[in-house]
Amino acid sequence: VVGEGGSQKVVAKLPSGESIEVLLFGATVTSWKSNGGQTENLWLSDAADLTGKKPVRGGIPVVFPVFGPPPKSGHATSSLPQHGFARSSRWEYMGKSTSEDALDSSSVKLDFGLDRQSLSEEARKAWPLDFGLVYSVTLSKDSLQAALTIQNEGEESFDFQFLLHTYFRIQDISKIAVTGLSGTEYIDKVLDASLHTQSDNQLKITGETDRVYKDIKQDTTSIVEDGKPRFDVIRNNVKDTVTWNPWIEKAKAMGDFSPDDGYKNMVCVEIGAVDGWQKLDKGEAWEGGMLVKSHL
Ligand code: BG6
Repeated sequence: VVGEGGSQKVVAKLPSGESIEVLLFGATVTSWKSNGGQTENLWLSDAADLTGKKPVRGGIPVVFPVFGPPPKSGHATSSLPQHGFARSSRWEYMGKSTSEDALDSSSVKLDFGLDRQSLSEEARKAWPLDFGLVYSVTLSKDSLQAALTIQNEGEESFDFQFLLHTYFRIQDISKIAVTGLSGTEYIDKVLDASLHTQSDNQLKITGETDRVYKDIKQDTTSIVEDGKPRFDVIRNNVKDTVTWNPWIEKAKAMGDFSPDDGYKNMVCVEIGAVDGWQKLDKGEAWEGGMLVKSHL
């Protein structure tokens, strides 16, 4: 662990040079370098607050227990801020484990924990339920795995949503396509939350994009850049994926989004369980997440 106070982070590196950085605040992965450490795979805003005062603009914020603005009233999450409290709580570093195999493919796994006791007073009041989260991030030579385990430690069942809000770094938004969503229904949050079906296998981003693809049959959503595979995002026990790019005006309007034209170098492909609610009974546990393969 390096750094002080709200800026404390865990840095891990493989013998072959690949590395990862995880801020304890939000257990937010802020850097993932592959290709011997030469290629940064995540976009991080130049104006991101990395001091533990507000959610990080970039990297991989963890969204739990609600995605987006919570239901206005009548739901256990109704008093929570947009995207819940996980991305703005300080997690505990639980340690690392490493493994090595004969094919020179070592990996390092970092574990982070969050429970009711470690929440801010405000969050504890807003979501008065007993839970335990373990978030594991595993770095391998050309991949990153991120998995969340949720345990219901209370006396009643609860509802949750979960999502990994990954900001992928790309060279040029006009040269990419998101693939592996064809045949899927999506809610278009830019177009009044109307329902559509993705017909083209290639989703090109040519303007503000904010879509919730739900109940996806395929396991893998990919980002292709310049006709070549760049990232494969493989869902594990989750069926939904959000695609987001704020484009020109929204990027400018966000105080922590910098530079203004940074929207050209990022695309969010966010796996999760956000269509409706997952119900977790007393004493039960749930696990889900993703494996991301970088082709660079
Ligand atoms: C996306 C949502 O996941 O996150 C968008 O679909 C939202 O609607 C975006 O604008 C960013 O959210 P925030 O809270 O980090 O500004």
